[in-house]
Amino acid sequence: MKQYSPSCDQNKDPILAVIKPLLCNATSVLEIGSGTGQHCVYFAKALPHLVWQASDQAIYLESVNAWIADAQLNNTPQALELNVDVSWPVEQYDAIFSANTVHIMSWDMVISLFQGLGKTLLKDGIFILYGPFNYNGEYTSTSNANFDLWLAQQNPQSAIRDFEALNQLAKQVGLVLIKDYEMPANNRILVWQKR
Ligand SMILES: C[S@@+](CC[C@H](N)C(=O)[O-])C[C@H]1O[C@@H](n2cnc3c(N)ncnc32)[C@H](O)[C@@H]1O
Repeated sequence: MKQYSPSCDQNKDPILAVIKPLLCNATSVLEIGSGTGQHCVYFAKALPHLVWQASDQAIYLESVNAWIADAQLNNTPQALELNVDVSWPVEQYDAIFSANTVHIMSWDMVISLFQGLGKTLLKDGIFILYGPFNYNGEYTSTSNANFDLWLAQQNPQSAIRDFEALNQLAKQVGLVLIKDYEMPANNRILVWQKR
């Protein structure tokens, strides 16, 4: 059954406006943590020149595949089961996209995510990461500080991540930050390139 996330509806157009030019020459995108599946079909429809490969942990796949089946696009294969701690595809991609995932994952999972990225991105490929981030240990807004408190109540291992710590993980696997976009509602889009 298709699940629905209001925030995906709110952020899909601002995200698309940023990623469309970034992905103009890409042929394959792997999405990590596709969630409901809304982003997958919305972005794939707007970017018909590339294949959008959705993925997530097993319990999310039913909804992602229901959105894919309903949309009847020819550039959205069935979603892959991908837990960043466990299973990565052997195939490599021009780009990897992930939205609102690293504050949900434990820090160990975030480390696994970047290790997987280092292997799964083609040379010159890009990693696009959307979400809230801290800079120099500071929240960028009161609403992000409140969101972080709420996250900790849901799961003590979840937290808004420091940009600097993420960038350190990126450097360790050969990724170089090329863009940092300000987005609505105190979110950002970070873009790293594999060198
Ligand atoms: C807040 S949801 C975001 C979903 C979607 N990307 C969106 O923007 O609405 C967090 C996502 O992170 C995924 N996630 C958490 N831990 C993960 C892991 N170890 N491996 C892969 N995905 C994970 C969840 O399965 C979920 O889809």
